[in-house]
Amino acid sequence: MNYKIGLLRGDGIGPEIVDSAVRVLEKIGEKYGHSFSFTPYLIGGAAIDQCGEPLPKETVEGCLASDSVLLGAVGGPKWDGLSGDKRPEKALLGIRAAMGLFTNLRPAKLYPALKADCPLREDIVAQGFDIVIVRELTGGIYFGDRGYRTGKYGEEAFDTEAYSRMEIERIAKVAFETARKRNKKLTSIDKANVLETSRLWRKIVHEMAADYPDVSCSDMLVDNAAMQLVRNPAQFDVIVTSNMFGDILSDEASQITGSIGMLPSASLGDNTCGLYEPIHGSAPDIAGQNKANPIATILSAAMMLLYSFNLAKESQAIVDAVDRVLNDGYRTADLAHGKPSLSTVEMTDKIIEYLD
Ligand code: IPM
Ligand code: MG
Repeated sequence: MNYKIGLLRGDGIGPEIVDSAVRVLEKIGEKYGHSFSFTPYLIGGAAIDQCGEPLPKETVEGCLASDSVLLGAVGGPKWDGLSGDKRPEKALLGIRAAMGLFTNLRPAKLYPALKADCPLREDIVAQGFDIVIVRELTGGIYFGDRGYRTGKYGEEAFDTEAYSRMEIERIAKVAFETARKRNKKLTSIDKANVLETSRLWRKIVHEMAADYPDVSCSDMLVDNAAMQLVRNPAQFDVIVTSNMFGDILSDEASQITGSIGMLPSASLGDNTCGLYEPIHGSAPDIAGQNKANPIATILSAAMMLLYSFNLAKESQAIVDAVDRVLNDGYRTADLAHGKPSLSTVEMTDKIIEYLD
């Protein structure tokens, strides 16, 4: 079978890490007899520079015609001065919406080999953690009405959050089903003591809990959740939350795994075509230096094999190769603490070597 993969290399370290993941996929193709074809499309600052807009029409059409899409990262200081609508980040929101990717899965687990990198206290680290954050991705305050107006104190800006029953039900369903396949524990995170959207969210999650008697479901306020994630991360299995809370909590969760350079993500909609990307950004400070950790993007490719192509064995082979490379002590600079480290290309070579 031939799988058509769209590549959105983007900005900063994006091109380097996407190329690493492509090499790993090519190795998988060779080893397991699949063929992957890759078509690059412009996005973010690179697209602004070449076509004057962050998300060209050809990119959207190309992604919609692909079997799946792999993204590096977008943004950088060069484009920071642009207005909201023209920023590289707008392209990311645009492509998520255009592809109907309302689910964002962000797994955060503590690798035994990276325990020393976890900034938490030893007794907390000893317990380990393995969490999946299910973040709503095409609604909420990211997509609500916004603008400028003259208010009581003169010039003001506003953003609004809206969530419909349909949007809450479909993301909650993904979360319940994800929990069902794991440790059957779901924590729904909201701010129901203040926000109306959260109160509707909570009510619907409670209604749906009746259909999933095998899943233990509880609520947690987002401020408490931010605290619990560093106090006792082992208590979490699956977390479901809104677009903005998920954005914030997933960065927090990544930091306690040791390095944001490790965390992949999958953005999914109603069909199997997804968008896979590391959760970290474009790291302009190390761009083009062959220093970036490619693991988050390589693990994103592994998620693609699983969720878009149903290639579980091939996906697991990548995850296992990464595990073994880490267990054998190989590190990129972000995890080397000043000790000798592998470059982006060398780390990729290692992972490919371990796939054999
Ligand atoms: C993420 C990023 C994006 C988001 C930005 C770059 C728009 O932080 O994927 O977490 O907020 O969703
Ligand atoms: Mg983020």
